[in-house]
Amino acid sequence: MTTTRTARTFQLTARPTGFPTSDLFSLIETPVPAPGPGEALVENLQLSVDPYHREEMDGGWELDTPLEGRAVGRVVASHDPGLAEGDLVFHRHGWRTHALVTAGVFGTRRLPSYEGVPLTAHLSILGGTGLTAYVAVTRTLEFRAGQDLFVSAAAGGVGTAVGRIARLLGARRIVGSAGSAAKVARLTADLGFDAAFDYHDGPIGELLAGAAPDGLDAAVDNVGGDHLEGAISAMREYGRIAWVGAIAQYHCAGNPPAAPRNLYDVVEKSLRIEGVLVRNHRDAQGELEALLVPHLRSGRITPEVTVLDGIERTVDGFLGMLRGENTGKMLIRTGA
Ligand SMILES: NC(=O)c1ccc[n+]([C@@H]2O[C@H](COP(=O)([O-])OP(=O)(O)OC[C@H]3O[C@@H](n4cnc5c(N)ncnc54)[C@H](OP(=O)(O)O)[C@@H]3O)[C@@H](O)[C@H]2O)c1
Repeated sequence: MTTTRTARTFQLTARPTGFPTSDLFSLIETPVPAPGPGEALVENLQLSVDPYHREEMDGGWELDTPLEGRAVGRVVASHDPGLAEGDLVFHRHGWRTHALVTAGVFGTRRLPSYEGVPLTAHLSILGGTGLTAYVAVTRTLEFRAGQDLFVSAAAGGVGTAVGRIARLLGARRIVGSAGSAAKVARLTADLGFDAAFDYHDGPIGELLAGAAPDGLDAAVDNVGGDHLEGAISAMREYGRIAWVGAIAQYHCAGNPPAAPRNLYDVVEKSLRIEGVLVRNHRDAQGELEALLVPHLRSGRITPEVTVLDGIERTVDGFLGMLRGENTGKMLIRTGA
């Protein structure tokens, strides 16, 4: 049985110009819906807020309609033969307290039961964030033990997961960039990085050359613009760059940061730059879990997350993540 009678759901009421603001969202209250034939009612426990939501605000998400986003929750009533009351599920009806789901539809799947693995892992290092990191490192970079790697936005969800995965795969030197001295300190003290720098402290190329004076074999770029340019300049011959995101340009519609000015170095150094889209690699989920679950159980790895409590904090969490207020994956806890 559901524990509350009112469902709360975020909607977008207008589109942003530049950096989004909280007044573009409204939190709608309705009675908790009843599941119809083939449906289950889920009480959401954790919601994911992601950089791609910023892009959805420009046109992907419809106005005045419940928003899409990753979530995990517990089935509280079910007319779906594939889901039973009490099951923990992953689905994409986030940004709300309650959702009607159907197994196999819109990403809905029962979560595997991994004793000793916290629920936060399923929206962070075992979720789309960790899968992005895993496929960037293993499939795009074909990363090998003994190689040196740079990751930008290193203290975020994908960045921290890249650091963990590259270390497990035998990385020699892992270098990260982040937006504050506190994050830089955490990267080297707690998160397995050998060196890190604050990208506000000077030209990225110079900062990266200082942190990786002998060059790099591989990079995962989450930022674009000058970070991608810096990665190209630090690459050794035959280096590989997995281009995962461009968070520096998501609010700059029509006026993105300059493209790397050193693109011809890709030819001079026989580099490979390849884009990564996690939705093309769903088949790697089993591999990701096989690699990480034993380390999550043993405590060698813990999910790195920043958690805000309460559905009403969802927009704060989303905007805070875009501003860099998170370390690891930004999550909203809506239940226990
Ligand atoms: N291709 C795919 O399939 C896929 C899947 C998932 C994510 N992504 C991309 O991966 C990147 C990271 O995503 P995430 O979910 O892990 O988010 P995240 O890194 O946890 O959070 C975003 C981070 O971006 C940094 N940031 C914000 N504005 C910046 C700027 N102008 N320059 C440099 N850094 C900036 C902030 O950290 P600082 O404090 O360090 O600035 C912030 O914490 C994003 O670009 C996202 O779009 C792509």
